[in-house]
Amino acid sequence: MTQAVNPDAGPSLRIGVIGVGVMGSNHARVLTGLPGAKLVGVADPDLRQADFVARTLGCASVTGVDELLDLKVDAVTVAAPTHLHRDIALACIARGVHVMVEKPIASSVEEGREIIAAARRAGVTLMVGHVERFNPAVEAIKDAIRNEDILSIAITRVGPFPPRMSNVGVVIDLAVHDIDLIRWFTDSDIVEVQPQLSSAVAEREDIALLQFRTASGVLAHINTNWLTPFKARNVTVATRGKYVMGDLLTRQVTECFGFQPDGSYSMRHLSVGHAEPLRSELLAFLRAVGSGSAAAVTGEEGVASLEIAIRCLTSRPATASAQRQAPLVAAG
Ligand SMILES: NC(=O)c1ccc[n+]([C@@H]2O[C@H](COP(=O)([O-])OP(=O)(O)OC[C@H]3O[C@@H](n4cnc5c(N)ncnc54)[C@H](O)[C@@H]3O)[C@@H](O)[C@H]2O)c1
Repeated sequence: MTQAVNPDAGPSLRIGVIGVGVMGSNHARVLTGLPGAKLVGVADPDLRQADFVARTLGCASVTGVDELLDLKVDAVTVAAPTHLHRDIALACIARGVHVMVEKPIASSVEEGREIIAAARRAGVTLMVGHVERFNPAVEAIKDAIRNEDILSIAITRVGPFPPRMSNVGVVIDLAVHDIDLIRWFTDSDIVEVQPQLSSAVAEREDIALLQFRTASGVLAHINTNWLTPFKARNVTVATRGKYVMGDLLTRQVTECFGFQPDGSYSMRHLSVGHAEPLRSELLAFLRAVGSGSAAAVTGEEGVASLEIAIRCLTSRPATASAQRQAPLVAAG
């Protein structure tokens, strides 16, 4: 089921946003400025929040998914809490509506697969909101390592606790972004997982050091936590011919290359675009709906990354204690 959507032409796709908290209100804001789409309404059981967003952006506000679907939307983005993604996505798909669901695709692999199967049966587009792929710095890194023999990847994603804690820890909330990037950079599945997790302050893990090996033999590492007083998002990729370093916040990407036997090498800053990642992501969704082609981030990719994140939580060494204990104090 494809729509005549051309993001470069006038508004044609009627779209709604389900869940307009932190992320969904950004979806709604960006959608109002996109060619090829008309933001018809937002749905959120928090009526004050829905009304606020709707008034600001000039669209309808409703409290329930069915009411939004009654506004005859062609597509929705789902930014409700993750444990609701499955039910909401299935309700939309059952009405023939295209869905972009925030990351992680669902609470479990089984739920994610249900969404994929339903979308396939209904012939609607399903995309997962792994927005970091659309960060221009990430795109520059991906370009820099194209056709390179990748050896290792290290990603740091740290910061303070979010103002409102959801019921997931850093692995599902943060590391899933980087698991997706590792799979995407390497075009390969993760086959080995060595997680170390700790709960220093929160009930769920708030520190994670995760090591992986991909089917293609790349070693990868994620360092993530909610205990760093400032946000940092850094990626380094070592290939046989290059060392690429990217700061995803400042969007500076640098590569070292031309390694010489005497230890010298060349270095250059790569050109990085300025586009807002969420805008690029939502445009990619509109294009996939319009063309009927595969989404930029498919449901299957969303499930694959979630599956690895869940393995990190379930395959911890039996001897490891997730709870920290007081440090040993040397006598004397
Ligand atoms: N891609 C990213 O970088 C990114 C960043 C933040 C959050 N997220 C994802 O977005 C989703 C929402 O996270 P958030 O931080 O915006 O949460 P949030 O709590 O700020 O917002 C969630 C909103 O959903 C509403 N809601 C609750 N039940 C609902 C229902 N049945 N129908 C419609 N709306 C409902 C809540 O009232 C709230 O306004 C999560 O899946 C999260 O993982 C992704």
